Amino acid sequence: MRTIDWRDDHIVAVDQTALPDAVRMLDIHTVAELTDAIRRLAIRGAPALGVAGALGAALAAREPADVCRRQVEALRQARPTAVNLAWGVDRAMRRLPEGPAAVLAEALGILDEDVRANRALAARGADWLLAHGAARLNVQTHCNAGGLACVEWGTALGVVRALHERGALGRVYVDETRPLLQGSRLTTWELARLGIEHTLVVDSAGPSVLARGLADAVLVGADRIAANGDVINKIGTYPLALAAARAGIPFVVAAPESTLDPDSPTGQDVEIEIRDGAEIVHMGQIRTAPAGTPTLNLAFDLTPADLVTAIVTEHRVIHPAKGERP
Ligand code: MRU
Repeated sequence: MRTIDWRDDHIVAVDQTALPDAVRMLDIHTVAELTDAIRRLAIRGAPALGVAGALGAALAAREPADVCRRQVEALRQARPTAVNLAWGVDRAMRRLPEGPAAVLAEALGILDEDVRANRALAARGADWLLAHGAARLNVQTHCNAGGLACVEWGTALGVVRALHERGALGRVYVDETRPLLQGSRLTTWELARLGIEHTLVVDSAGPSVLARGLADAVLVGADRIAANGDVINKIGTYPLALAAARAGIPFVVAAPESTLDPDSPTGQDVEIEIRDGAEIVHMGQIRTAPAGTPTLNLAFDLTPADLVTAIVTEHRVIHPAKGERP
């Protein structure tokens, strides 16, 4: 099953707000529908956003020039932190002078590239971990960097799958990932379908999992990687990197080259999405804080390069903590 795809004349995508209760597909015919699906995280995860951006450009390319321009700008800004979204839109739109069919061809190319990049970086990540640790590993992950965050297969969970296929994986510790629970709703769902042993912990337990020696490495994806090797990923990643350093285990980031952003010199130059506070004062329909409680709903955090042991892409391994730059 592909998380996002093109069928006949429109986008089909898994509605990630319905998981884990139901596998529901969305049929998306307009850029407005797509932008809305991205804002409410029905489509999410940096690589999937890149593909969505490119396919959205293909939808926009059918419109008159001024409408197309407006729609593309709204789409680019639907979520500001994952660099892949604007990257996908811009790459597909560069073909606009050749006509809408060329924009769609470029978008479909990006879709296929994502699958290939995931497979390649997953194998490389598994090689790296096995060369730098035990023959059988327990790992900890945060948020969802699996097939649901990409077209299929996954980045950090792609590495997990590669380890599993080689018989080199023990258990995966999954942080629940407040407030929208991508870990407990999505990552556990994927791991269960794959028959991979896993254990869910609350976010605040993540560092303690590492302090207790339960995991041999932390493995996460990224929404943007700055030119100096700083990594921007789901809020709660940074504490894991600190805890991994303290525990003396590798902190590994698996991401396609499209997540590298040479235009952001450091992580401080990246806009961190701040989402509606309503997400953190409710658990589902239940209010968990008094009405009117002030909130700061930071959706992502910055892990400084010196805490990042390795960044694994489809082409290379970079070691920011040793001073290597992407
Ligand atoms: O807010 P989300 O769910 O889009 O955040 C996703 C993440 O932070 C992922 O870790 C990241 O996009 C990498 S996905 C391969």
